[in-house]
Amino acid sequence: MNVPAPQPDPTAPPALFDRAFIDDPYPAYAWLREHAPVHKTRLPNGVEAYLVTRYDEVKAVLADPRLSKNAAQSFPGWKPGRTGIPGEHRSGIAAHLLNLDPPDHTRLRRLVAKAFTPRRIADFEPRIRQIADKLLDECAARAAEPGGDGGVDLIRGYACPLPVAVILEMLGVPEEDQSIFHEWAFGVVDRGGARGGVGRSVKRIRGYLREIIHKKRLAPGDDLLTALVRASDHGEHLSEDEAAAMAFILLFAGFETTINLVGNGYFALLTHPAERDRLLAEPDLLPSAVEELLRYDGPVEFATWRFTTEPITVGGTEIPAGEPVLAVLAAADRDPARFPAPDTLDLGRPATGHVALGHGIHFCIGAPLARLEGRIAFERLLARYPGATLARPAETLRWHSGLIMRGLYELPVRLQGP
Ligand code: HEM
Repeated sequence: MNVPAPQPDPTAPPALFDRAFIDDPYPAYAWLREHAPVHKTRLPNGVEAYLVTRYDEVKAVLADPRLSKNAAQSFPGWKPGRTGIPGEHRSGIAAHLLNLDPPDHTRLRRLVAKAFTPRRIADFEPRIRQIADKLLDECAARAAEPGGDGGVDLIRGYACPLPVAVILEMLGVPEEDQSIFHEWAFGVVDRGGARGGVGRSVKRIRGYLREIIHKKRLAPGDDLLTALVRASDHGEHLSEDEAAAMAFILLFAGFETTINLVGNGYFALLTHPAERDRLLAEPDLLPSAVEELLRYDGPVEFATWRFTTEPITVGGTEIPAGEPVLAVLAAADRDPARFPAPDTLDLGRPATGHVALGHGIHFCIGAPLARLEGRIAFERLLARYPGATLARPAETLRWHSGLIMRGLYELPVRLQGP
């Protein structure tokens, strides 16, 4: 007798945070958007939080002043280290934009904006291209080594060192001092049970940043650290501690995100060859392609932690005061109510309006740099290796299980020219 296979219960919430979810969270997000758009769940780190998944509600949450970023003030059950960047609290470097509310946030953001200007970023374009080409030369040399299989991991060889080198050079960290930052960045990307180790190196990084900031005060350079130290607004300056926390958050917020833009974006191109060929035929599509790649499989899956300071109602659900809320950017950017055929990668679509770079007062301050680095990273890969292919089947690649970021551990590619 044939016994029918048990069918999944369409009314039951999907498993969140298991391996299948980590590899492809989008079906679970589609279910949540439709059936439980504000969903309380226990996260892998043991914290219970509300997930918000619809586009309109994600934007509302990101713009709502009743949600605070300052856990210490607004979340009574909070223990330092349960949320936020590993090691930041122990290292005394947590007083940065992503953990502050107005008026402190407003004051610091205004000062940073005076130093981290669109002009400073645009001036860096030729240098970013040079760094990208040098890294690709090294990748090609590694791929050609005897005994290898001709493949090279573009996360380690390209996506990771590119943004780290760019922001360090912009900040004005001398080349001979850059290795501790690159080691730390690889540690963060590898995860490899290294959270403690990563936390410890945050302490070294903070010590280094304070020292170099002090030196820049005495001997100014033409760089972002000097500009941060000098920035003033109505007679106010950043203290050396504030400047160190600021340099740290520019570094931290800017590197894993950009790695994932290059990694997730190039993976999407390699697994959608017709779209890749379209981009090769029409390079003018690159800026809109970067927006669509940010929307389609963005680097930041969840916006960073927010906490209710009073009871609020989101999408008809009341969230009590003192609760953590996570806006799921990746779910909002696949919401069919905002983006038609959201699961289709369409490099020509007007994808602006996505929330991959956030929304509201914490909107990514590095967005112009992120977009520029993304554009150049794809431009160099496509121009030099238009026939590149994945060196392993797509389904064998592993995705990070980190809560906030979405990215690949490795991206093995065969670099092929025309
Ligand atoms: C904030 C995404 C690159 C610096 C944010 C937020 C998102 C984001 C979603 C808001 C987080 C929230 O509201 O919880 C991205 C993505 C990037 C990228 C997807 C790359 C593709 C960069 C770069 C820098 C940077 C290159 C600097 C060098 C920052 C800072 C904040 C921020 C300092 C905090 C702003 C504030 O709280 O006022 N980013 N980012 N980001 N980003 Fe980016």
